[in-house]
Formats: sequence, C-alpha cells, structure tokens
Amino acid sequence: MTTQQPLPPHWRWFPEARFGMFIHWGPYAQYGRGEQVLFREHLDQNEYEQRACTWDPQGFDAVHWAQVAKDAGMKYAVLTTRHHDGYCLWDSKLTDYTSVQQAPKRDFVAEYVEAFRAAGLKVGLYYSLADWRIPAYWNGPSGDPDGWAAFREYVHGQVRELLSHYGKIDVIWFDGAWPQTAPEWHSAELVDMIRSLQPDILINNRLGVDDAAADVPGAAVPSTGRSRNLGDYGTPEHEIKAEDRLWESCQVTTWRLWGYTHGERWRPADVLLDMLVEAAGKGGNLLLNVGPDAAGRLPAEFEDRVAQLGAWLDVHGEAIYGVEAGDVCEFVTYGRQSRKGNNLYLIVRFWDNNGEVNLGGLATKVKRAVLLTTGEEVPFTQTEDHVLIHGLPLTPPTDLFPVIKLECDGPPQPRPWAKERLWQGDPRRMVAWAEARGRGVETIYD
Ligand code: GLC
Repeated sequence: MTTQQPLPPHWRWFPEARFGMFIHWGPYAQYGRGEQVLFREHLDQNEYEQRACTWDPQGFDAVHWAQVAKDAGMKYAVLTTRHHDGYCLWDSKLTDYTSVQQAPKRDFVAEYVEAFRAAGLKVGLYYSLADWRIPAYWNGPSGDPDGWAAFREYVHGQVRELLSHYGKIDVIWFDGAWPQTAPEWHSAELVDMIRSLQPDILINNRLGVDDAAADVPGAAVPSTGRSRNLGDYGTPEHEIKAEDRLWESCQVTTWRLWGYTHGERWRPADVLLDMLVEAAGKGGNLLLNVGPDAAGRLPAEFEDRVAQLGAWLDVHGEAIYGVEAGDVCEFVTYGRQSRKGNNLYLIVRFWDNNGEVNLGGLATKVKRAVLLTTGEEVPFTQTEDHVLIHGLPLTPPTDLFPVIKLECDGPPQPRPWAKERLWQGDPRRMVAWAEARGRGVETIYD
C-alpha cells in the first residue's frame, strides 16, 4: 500500500531515483567482521581505539566510488559519517576521534560529498545516534541525567556540524536510537534544527520510537528505533515492504553484515536486480549496501555485480526510475510489474523459451507492445481476459530480466476478478471460472 500524496517539489527526486548506494565504512573495516565488531565481540575499547586512531586508508578514492555508483544507475548515496563505534569521518570540532585529527588527516565526508555531487548524485549522510564509547549513552537519561544531557548535546552538535559545513545535503539517515525514545533524544527539536539548516533535506524515520509505553506497555524499545510521527520516510531493513509514505528498503549485497567482512558471500546480480525491481514495483526505493575494505576499496564482487545492474538499467531504466507501485495484474508466474502513466512494464524473471508471454486480467486496452531489451515492437492479441504477447525471442535476450512494455490507452487497470491476488479477496468471484473449467472432469465425481 502506498499513498500517492503530492510531494513537495524538492522531494520529488527521491521516488524518481529508486536506487541508491549505502556505504558502511569506518575503522571497523580493519577487522573484516562487520560494522558492529566492537560490541558483538566485546572487544577492549582501548585497543579498538588505538587501532582506529592508526587506521590510514590509502586506497580511499571518492571519485571512483561515485563513478561506480553512477555506472550502476544509482541516483544517490548514503555514507556512514559515524557508526555506533563513535569514530567520525569528518572534521568534528567536538571530539578528536576523527579522521582529520587521527592518522588519515583527511575529511572523508568532504571528499565524498564533493565527488558524489560532482557526479550528479544526491548526497546522504548516515549518522548513528548511539555512541558505544560514551558511558552516558548506556546509562541513559534515568541512570545519568546530566551525562545524558551532555551526550545529547554532543549528538545534536555533531548533526549541526554535518549540516552546516558541507553545502546542500539531500538526506540525513539516522540510526542507533535504541534504547532511548524520540522524546529522550529530543528528536523533535533535532528535526526543527535540521529543517532550519537544510530546508529541502529528507530525514529518515529512525529518530527513536515516539513513546515506548504507547507502543506496547512494558515492552522493550524496538531496536530499530523507528518513529511513526517524525521523519519523512520509512526504512524497512532486510525486507521489501511498502509503507504508506515514502520508503526505502536497505539491503546488503552480501549475506548479512553491512561493514566489510572477510570471506563474505555475495548475492548474485540477478538477486540484487530482483530486489530493485521488487522495491520499485511496490513503489519504494532500494538502498543497496557496500562495505569498502580497510584500505577504502570497493570489493571487486560488488563492483562486478552493480556494473551488471547499471548495464541493465541503461536499457530498461524506464521500468524502474519514477515508477509507481505496479501490481496491476497477477504476474507472479512470469515475474514482476511496474507502472508509469499509461505504461505497464512486465519484468520477466522466468523466460520459458516458447516465444510467448501471457498476461491475465488486464482490462485496459493495449495499443502497442515493445520488448525494451531489443527495442523491437512485438505482436500481441488481446481478449477480454488475456494479453498474449507472441513473436518473442526463443532464448532470453538478456542474462538478466527482459522487459516488455505495454503501452495502454489509459492507466492500466485490472479486470474486477483480477483485482485481488490468489489468496486475497472474496473467493466467490471465481465461481463462474471454476464452473466453466470444471465441466470437463465432472465425471470423476459421478
Ligand atoms: C542496523 C544495524 C546497523 C546498520 C543498520 C543499517 O540498525 O544496527 O549496524 O548500520 O542496520 O540499516
């Protein structure tokens, strides 16, 4: 379910974009066991800090990262400026635990913002509210009211820095609100400050749950720390689930972890593309993650896969960028759909090599069918219940998903019987169909 409310003009780029790059990078990359190694393995904080302070990633090249994102057909990116370990990739004046004051002597956020902006990409900054180094974070407002107030001021101050010194920022992506609530983080005040600094920015929803008690009395604060009232868009994680506002699914390209991981297993390009198609087809975005290595290089496996997606998008991009939720007809036996204006895009995952695709349930008249993959118009016949597209290549015209564009004489609509999917709706709508089909085998019940 998505609500298509008119969006303010400065946010329209977001549903148009549909595809972005999430970058989890920091000193934790040296361990090669994800971004949460400090906490998950209960490492010694001093040893971790020493290693963080001598971390000097010579291979970091923001211009190359931006080129990879652009060639992948991504339209924006979100970089971890600070993850839960507290190390800052920018020139924060509020701590010396930064890439400028420690070994690299570089402002990685500045380099990233400049390179991505120069490549024509929208720029997002991830910022973790949590900072595992700070006892007051763990103590919370009830355990250490003064310490908590000072820590919260530090957090707000760092957000102010990030949104004051790097020009126009398109997205601020919070995380790590657990275990505190939005009121405890003063998130409403944070949002006001952000809007005054960056009026056009999009703010994600991980600003802390609005009220832990109101969610489930006595229950623990959900770890995602998502606010229902604050923020401009939803952030389903490891799942592609439509929300009734702008939303973006963040997903790993690997098995589980976000930061660089030795020996990670990589999802193949078609699985990644399927996630993009599913998100766009449900009316949302895909923020696809990469964890660059300790030297700052993008893993070759990532570059290889997203280059394949970029090549596919060069040809089939109109079925992804700016599309609306497209689940017009039942199409699960072939693949997925997306929709824009009068066009319905059939994104075929299963090419059965008989030269035909048969779409059931479309009520709108089709004027023209084009196999986007080759650019060729393809013949079709339309009956009351079916559009039979024929004359298709007998072998798949791409290693990824071929796309057939149906140009209709109005916004594509389903037949009344096809409005619901198989396990939805009033089953009696199919009685006539079952009666007609059942006749040939009636005798077995005699
Ligand atoms: C979770 C994880 C965090 C990661 C984030 C990405 O919140 O705790 O490590 O950065 O997901 O969405």
